[in-house]
Amino acid sequence: MARRLWARQNPTWPRCLLRILRPIRFELIALADSAPAASPAGAPGAVAPSDGVPVLEVRHLGRSLSLGEQSLEILRDITFAIPKGEFVTLMGPSGSGKSTLLGCITGLDTPSSGQVFLNGTDISSMRESQLAGIRNRTVGMVFQAFNLIPTLTARENVEVPLYAGSWKGSPTARSEELLGLVGLSHRLEHRPNQLSGGEQQRVAIARALATQPPLVVADEPTGNLAAAQGKELLDLLWDLREKLGTTFVIATHDASITPYATRMLQLADGQLVGDHPGPRADVA
Ligand SMILES: Nc1ncnc2c1ncn2[C@@H]1O[C@H](COP(=O)(O)OP(=O)(O)OP(=O)(O)O)[C@@H](O)[C@H]1O
Ligand SMILES: [Mg+2]
Repeated sequence: MARRLWARQNPTWPRCLLRILRPIRFELIALADSAPAASPAGAPGAVAPSDGVPVLEVRHLGRSLSLGEQSLEILRDITFAIPKGEFVTLMGPSGSGKSTLLGCITGLDTPSSGQVFLNGTDISSMRESQLAGIRNRTVGMVFQAFNLIPTLTARENVEVPLYAGSWKGSPTARSEELLGLVGLSHRLEHRPNQLSGGEQQRVAIARALATQPPLVVADEPTGNLAAAQGKELLDLLWDLREKLGTTFVIATHDASITPYATRMLQLADGQLVGDHPGPRADVA
């Protein structure tokens, strides 16, 4: 309903955009859904004030899957809390459950047990319609494969979550501001295939930050980048953390991210086996 209304009111952003979005399902659920959600504060889609409240809290999280008669335990009894401004690395061997944990944190996956709180709001038992609004405003996501919409320009890619949500200002101005912040003012009208890997990932970061979420989670953000591009990206993320106060949780195998960490979480076989201050802990 909201989408139909929006399409009617925005003839310059025609229905073809919605047609483009529809097939790119999983990653774009978070960007394309915008149903308002009730918050503890009562305002539609607002998130609780973060003073003293962890931006992210996970309590006794479990995720299992039924495979025939067997149950596969992917995550077991995971508990941690992340205050505002942390730069957290989530490391662990392949298959240890990092991506599954990020899925549960962002509400794209449903925990089998336990709870996930975003800015104090328990999202674990929310319906999709409630969750969509919270996700749009609270969590930005960055993926290894960038996951930009190939037919849209850099500027339009960053605008998508703003049109999908209820951003009050001009999406174009916001998109240009963010692309400026990630150093891409000169690439606004380029499509993803006209950008380098590093530039595409910077567009993805601008998109993740579009709705000013307090939390950004990234799954192997440097995985498809050369070492120098990876370092540039990490410097940029750290800079954004400083400028915007954004909290980052980054799942990675890339040891070159470790020096940036204020906090280091370690998973093994679906369990949290390490939770330590990182080299930059004193900065957080
Ligand atoms: N839909 C699914 N069905 C069956 N098993 C699954 C499913 N999704 C994940 N798994 C299993 O859960 C475990 C954790 O997967 P996950 O992708 O979270 O690991 P990861 O730590 O992100 O690994 P990588 O570092 O390789 O990305 C793996 O053993 C995987 O095979
Ligand atoms: Mg993974």
